[in-house]
Amino acid sequence: APPVRIALLGAGTVGAAVARRLVGRADLYERRTGRRFELAGVAVRDTARPREGIDPSLITDDAETLVDRADVVVEVMGGIQPARALVERALRRGVPVVTANKQLIAQHGPALHALADEHGTSLEYEGAVVAAVPVLSVVREALAGDVVTAISGVVNGSTNFVLDLVARRGVPFEEAVRQAGELGYLEADPTEDLEGLDAAAKIVILARAAWGVPVTLEDVQRRGIADLTDEDFRQAAGAGTVIKLVASAWCRGSAGHRRVEVAVRPVALPQDDPLAQARESANVLIIEAESAGTLRLQGAGAGGDETASAVLGDIVRVVRRG
Ligand code: NDP
Ligand code: HSE
Repeated sequence: APPVRIALLGAGTVGAAVARRLVGRADLYERRTGRRFELAGVAVRDTARPREGIDPSLITDDAETLVDRADVVVEVMGGIQPARALVERALRRGVPVVTANKQLIAQHGPALHALADEHGTSLEYEGAVVAAVPVLSVVREALAGDVVTAISGVVNGSTNFVLDLVARRGVPFEEAVRQAGELGYLEADPTEDLEGLDAAAKIVILARAAWGVPVTLEDVQRRGIADLTDEDFRQAAGAGTVIKLVASAWCRGSAGHRRVEVAVRPVALPQDDPLAQARESANVLIIEAESAGTLRLQGAGAGGDETASAVLGDIVRVVRRG
């Protein structure tokens, strides 16, 4: 079989990790899919910057041409444009797209899915929702025979890192935000994390996956952690509780009268609550389903390698499907 030409759009925290593994695990992926994975090119903004572990001849700022000669497009540049136009360009050519871009999917997912269907191809984004934790697969595939009733979780790694450092180590808020940025957990625009927009995108994508409803970001009752004060943290500690940024989605009623609600807000939780256990950048998700009962998923919700795990899994599945 001919090699699979993979176009990588973005070589930042996530893209660099994906590129490293695509090259380093080429033999493994060939065994798993029967096809050789070939990095066709890597689109970035700044072509002059050295990119460790990436062949300089692969670097380009011409993302459109790269998309046009790929068999699979991996979008990890973030933002809405030009990411959206490039994803649409690939889908129109019938080329499958893997992305970790939660804002793109939260804002334009339904239209992009329609475009993929129209052109007989697919759009995958496990990495967009809590990075390494395979929650979309669980909701869409493992629970395909069950009825999910509620999902709640700590779904933003950087704000959890900040809240954990402030609460357990007494690190000042600003300093904790700086450390989260250094570790690659924050979005290019950190207000997305701090204002709860990142968590809102994830819970919207999950609600759509669980209930097939057209929930949008505007439906989310949202409050982030940016306006929390030292007094809030003191009060929470005094009451034996811990503040977490909790995203939740629940479904009431039955077919025909279903109502889905989505929210993101800081909540003071008892120390022994499963969501209170999330340390540093860890994410925890609780899924309630009629037959399965309560499921708990936990793991790295941010980071280059961790997100690459989900992105690479999507690439392998897309290639296996052919
Ligand atoms: P970074 O900001 O680290 O990297 C973005 C990359 O895309 C850079 O290489 C940048 O080029 C390139 N890029 C951005 N805009 C353009 C453009 N207009 N044209 C060409 N290249 C461009 O982002 P991350 O890797 O952290 O995140 C990427 C995506 O993955 C985002 O959607 C994010 O939400 C998502 N994500 C991130 C996670 C994380 O932990 N970091 C976890 C889960 C999802 P240059 O290097 O030249 O600046
Ligand atoms: N900024 C995001 C977070 C990255 O902190 O969770 C992972 O989606």
